[in-house]
Amino acid sequence: MHPNQEETPVTYPATVEDRSAPILSVRDLHKTYGRGPNRFDALRGVSLDIREGESIAIVGKSGSGKSTLMHVLALLDQPSEGTVFLDNQDTRNLRGKRLNGARNKTFGFVFQQFFLTGSQTALENVTLPLKIAGVGRRARRDRAMNALEQLELGDKAKNKAIDLSGGQKQRVVIARALVNDPRIIFADEPTGNLDSNTGRVVEDILFALNREQGITLVIVTHDEELAARCDRRIHIRDGVIVDGEQAAA
Ligand SMILES: Nc1ncnc2c1ncn2[C@@H]1O[C@H](COP(=O)(O)OP(=O)(O)O)[C@@H](O)[C@H]1O
Ligand SMILES: [Mg+2]
Repeated sequence: MHPNQEETPVTYPATVEDRSAPILSVRDLHKTYGRGPNRFDALRGVSLDIREGESIAIVGKSGSGKSTLMHVLALLDQPSEGTVFLDNQDTRNLRGKRLNGARNKTFGFVFQQFFLTGSQTALENVTLPLKIAGVGRRARRDRAMNALEQLELGDKAKNKAIDLSGGQKQRVVIARALVNDPRIIFADEPTGNLDSNTGRVVEDILFALNREQGITLVIVTHDEELAARCDRRIHIRDGVIVDGEQAAA
């Protein structure tokens, strides 16, 4: 063997079992809203690696850029500058159907702005992502029921979402996030609207999914105790990471 061959860089296999490989990496993200006098730089150079299987809290004051970062990480919004890599793949190459496909297959969302449809049943709400993914009727029902049962909501499947308690609604949201077998769950203030006991139950569910199924958690929160339960905390101030592990350049 030529001695130089030993210097060939190691490539990281991005398998689910490999908990050290970054599933998501971002480099030098910038996000600007508006223009002219209304221009606002919400992200100003954020780099971060998220490894498969870890739990990360994104913390910072209101308006610091947490939700903006989460939306860019989750491929719901594009950065003005910078790169998002999913499994080492530059996501700029993903558009339209392939982008939607990658997002649906890989991510689950627990966001307050993704409301449940109150007039539909818990089961119908959980079925929706599977409908979008083109899963057949029978498999949709089975998988959605399965997810609801996992969240101990099997007996509420036929109840309209509007008739459920706050904690039950949030569990339906988690069931809906789980139904596509995601590798990452993004949660924006998942306990924000819940009383502390119910919030704790919802947290326990998220961390059990992390521990038992290896689902990566990315959680935006104001809640210090919730942040403390995560493997790692990323502090954001005025659109930059001020504390927490920065990715290697
Ligand atoms: N669509 C938008 N247009 C203009 N400004 C926005 C928009 N979205 C967010 N911002 C501004 O960007 C900053 C960061 O917002 P956001 O990421 O929602 O903060 P956080 O989630 O930390 O409270 C805030 O000052 C907010 O007003
Ligand atoms: Mg926010």
